[in-house]
Amino acid sequence: MSEAPALVLGIESSCDEMAASVVRNGREVLSSCVQGQEEVHRPYGGVVPELASRDHARSVSQVAARALEEAGVAVEALDGVAVTAGPGLVGSLLVGLSFGKALAYRLGVPLVGIHHLQGHLAAAELADPQLMPPYVGLVVSGGHTALYRIEADDAPVLLGETRDDAVGEAFDKVAALLGLGFPGGPALAREAEGGDPGAVALPRPLLDRPGFDFSYSGLKTAVAVELERRAARSPLSARERRDLAASFQAAAVDVLVARARAAVAETGLAQLAVVGGVAANRRLRESLAEAGARDGFRAVFPPAALCTDNAAMIAAAGAREIARGTHHGFALNSFSRVPLGEAPWAGDAGG
Ligand code: KG4
Ligand code: ZN
Repeated sequence: MSEAPALVLGIESSCDEMAASVVRNGREVLSSCVQGQEEVHRPYGGVVPELASRDHARSVSQVAARALEEAGVAVEALDGVAVTAGPGLVGSLLVGLSFGKALAYRLGVPLVGIHHLQGHLAAAELADPQLMPPYVGLVVSGGHTALYRIEADDAPVLLGETRDDAVGEAFDKVAALLGLGFPGGPALAREAEGGDPGAVALPRPLLDRPGFDFSYSGLKTAVAVELERRAARSPLSARERRDLAASFQAAAVDVLVARARAAVAETGLAQLAVVGGVAANRRLRESLAEAGARDGFRAVFPPAALCTDNAAMIAAAGAREIARGTHHGFALNSFSRVPLGEAPWAGDAGG
């Protein structure tokens, strides 16, 4: 592999964030701009795909210009462009992809498509230069909950994943049940701070089974049932709300910690990278750091701003691909569903 290209622009628009970032030498984040759409989607209580892509189309060039300006980099100085090619909302992905293509074509520099989860994992390597494959990767976000064995030269090996809801989705749904608004994960975590995590007995789904799969829809339902039972008696008090939030968070985190510890033990690896939006959760970070100290593995977390969707992770992953000689060319397409390690665009060289 040759040296990482000096200056890569990353673009990430897989869901409801438009993000752009300039990363130098694959390691140094010169800028990381993220424009959210909370106001657009709040009235609907969730992301509306058509509204997301329309808003991206309005903001993409401004966000990219801001990333270049904050980095102090002229557009002509870029050595490569990296865009998220999937998985995600196709309309949203296409906005970032089309912009990236046009820019790379105009500048005559390589264009690479990055798998969204490859990006999340790159955030951990970006945050901690000591982190080198092989390691165990725990991906916890609004769309994914999975454990991988990350290899240096081979495709990632999926150890287990959720059979139904993703853990971030469960945080968001339980937050909605508790009337904490949208987006729910961070609000639920804040509410849980003042609550008793042992107040309400909730299930730890699948922990009695071997393997590394997860399930979060039953846990969400258990909270809904508990809420109904209490609401039949009297309106939920502020204290009950905090206790339910804390009890849900404890159950959700316990399962992640138990599965991650078992994966580290079974693979015999000494490093665990925890990435994706839910990796910003304080209880998860503290519990896994403690587990690592006890079991003898190192838990690596990106800083919170690089846990949730951002483009620095895409630029960093892109820099590595470009250093390997990858250039996906202008036939690059976007894909709504694609497993990590099976990127169908990887063969699209040339262009
Ligand atoms: O990685 P991400 O930004 O987008 C996806 O690729 O899905 O993850 C977003 C998810 C949302 O479900 C959000 O509620 C959750 O991450 N999240 C959190 C926290 N911050 C974000 N969940 C729990 N605690 C947090 N502090
Ligand atoms: Zn994500």
